[in-house]
Amino acid sequence: MRRVLCLNGPNLDLLGRREPGVYGSLSLAELEERVRGWGGDLGLEVDCFQTNGERELIEAVHGSASHDGIIVNPGALTHTSFALRDAVAAVDIPVVEVHLSNVRQRDRWRRRSVLAGVAAATIFGRGAGGYRAALRHLVDRAACPFESHRYGPHPDQVFDLRAASGSRGGVLIHGGFWLDEWGRDTTEPWAVDLCRRGLPTANLEYRRLGSGGGVVPTVADVVEGVRAASGVLPEAPPVVIGHSAGAHLALAAASQANLAGLVLVSGVYDPGAPGVDRTGAAAGQRFDPDGSTRLDQLVTPDCPVLLVHGAADRVVPPDQSQTAAEALGAAAELVVCPEVGHFDALDPASEVWQSVVEWLRRLD
Ligand code: DQA
Repeated sequence: MRRVLCLNGPNLDLLGRREPGVYGSLSLAELEERVRGWGGDLGLEVDCFQTNGERELIEAVHGSASHDGIIVNPGALTHTSFALRDAVAAVDIPVVEVHLSNVRQRDRWRRRSVLAGVAAATIFGRGAGGYRAALRHLVDRAACPFESHRYGPHPDQVFDLRAASGSRGGVLIHGGFWLDEWGRDTTEPWAVDLCRRGLPTANLEYRRLGSGGGVVPTVADVVEGVRAASGVLPEAPPVVIGHSAGAHLALAAASQANLAGLVLVSGVYDPGAPGVDRTGAAAGQRFDPDGSTRLDQLVTPDCPVLLVHGAADRVVPPDQSQTAAEALGAAAELVVCPEVGHFDALDPASEVWQSVVEWLRRLD
């Protein structure tokens, strides 16, 4: 992956002035500059193009032969343009669909994307950062290819299998405060790192708040997803590795799964506690209003458990992992890494991830 085309469709030339409460305050030129910079950090050359015309957008997709991937925000054409869908389906390179706003939580008509099914991935609701995530996804999917497997009829009941033969598998459960704008692209760098070490993974998606999720369906998805992944990973039972709210879900699902180990990274178990990010606290209350997945309601898993947290985490304070480790007792080992923040833990170069890899090695 070396050259990426970044396309923006109708009305995105008005960014900064157009509904800034929805689309943010960055102008298109500022956004494009950031995208080129993020691309540079990942070793990519990014060419940017914006048009208000459907025809021009389609022709830009046709003319992408010298690029290795495309990220596209088609604006309102997302919801109507079957011609753009056909253009995306016609090119051989991966096309990632990006939206600044959470298109699933706005007008009903915005929930439908006619690109769904032909786009390699869809990232929405993360503002400008979604473009960065899209670039990262293009790099990660090129670094270590995967096969997507469905474990249910909902589009979010899916996992990406990166199989290496013969060794124990890991099922990755991403975080994001149970909210639908955060997806499995966030744990993909872990999957790529494990792939490079010869370890197979299933990077799990599940229904989240805003897209059919809630405590019962979401925990059920994680249980079913882990079960389905165990059936296709080369060696069962797997280790489950969760980040943030994904650590909470991994722990909540563990009593219903057969696991070789459980790794809980930067986990959030009591979102109402002081110090937890406000969005997270509100989402936690929405996710599990009755507290049925509170620590004192959960069964201690019947496998070794590692909890890791960055001491510099300002989104989920490290005392969340300390309290969880105490509740889990002797089966649990706690590692607190100085100077690591919440999202830093997702970087395979971080001390947090290095401790995880070390622990996995010892487990075998
Ligand atoms: C958008 C969402 C679309 O529904 C809308 O028509 C846009 C922008 C976004 O980035 O959130 O123009 O794609």
